[in-house]
Amino acid sequence: MLKAVLFDLDGVITDTAKFHFLAWRDLGAELGVTVDEAFNEELKGVSRIDSLERILVFGGLADKYSTAEKEALCTKKNDHYLELIQEMTPADILPGILPLLEELREAGLKAIVTSASKNAPGILELLQVKDYFDGIVDPASVAAGKPAPDIFLAGAELAGAKPAECIGVEDAASGVEAIKAAHIPAIAIGDAEVLAQADRVLADTSDLSLAVLRDTWEKATA
Ligand code: G6P
Ligand code: MG
Repeated sequence: MLKAVLFDLDGVITDTAKFHFLAWRDLGAELGVTVDEAFNEELKGVSRIDSLERILVFGGLADKYSTAEKEALCTKKNDHYLELIQEMTPADILPGILPLLEELREAGLKAIVTSASKNAPGILELLQVKDYFDGIVDPASVAAGKPAPDIFLAGAELAGAKPAECIGVEDAASGVEAIKAAHIPAIAIGDAEVLAQADRVLADTSDLSLAVLRDTWEKATA
């Protein structure tokens, strides 16, 4: 039986993905690295420090900065990101998400946030949806970030469910890879080519519903 839904945040619950992109693009520009939308796909779902490392490698700057300098660059990116998201309100919840959360609540399914973002609790507050969730996995508490399965396994545990009793919702290739590595069925939102590993790909969050989740889960676990 499907017992829990494990939600990515950025690009699934709300479109913070565009703000992460703008903040990395500007930091990249300062460092002389062009972060375009195609390269940004590779940063989705990836932790702050790992994103910076990828940008530095991409720009041929892998050994240029000390650990302390990298931390400072991450802080700079995050300060800019926080400025960009400050104006977010419940109107920024992506279409279909609120009705889905209401359906889950009514049906007694658990909803867990499995985001790599350390800003997740603050963003859920801005969106006023924190109460819909039964738990938020602290990304700092897991050994390895996406595409490793750790955060989704921790999400299943937090829900009190087995991985096979959950379904994960993601917009990033690294996230879908992490869900599948945890042996959890995956629904992806976005480009079917980029997200081919998922059990089902939807163009938009407005296509999400408990019926779609159940149908995908049943086919994937049959
Ligand atoms: C999500 C986003 C990534 C972001 C990561 C860490 O996974 O998709 O783009 O780098 O969270 O977010 P944070 O808010 O902790 O910098
Ligand atoms: Mg995401």
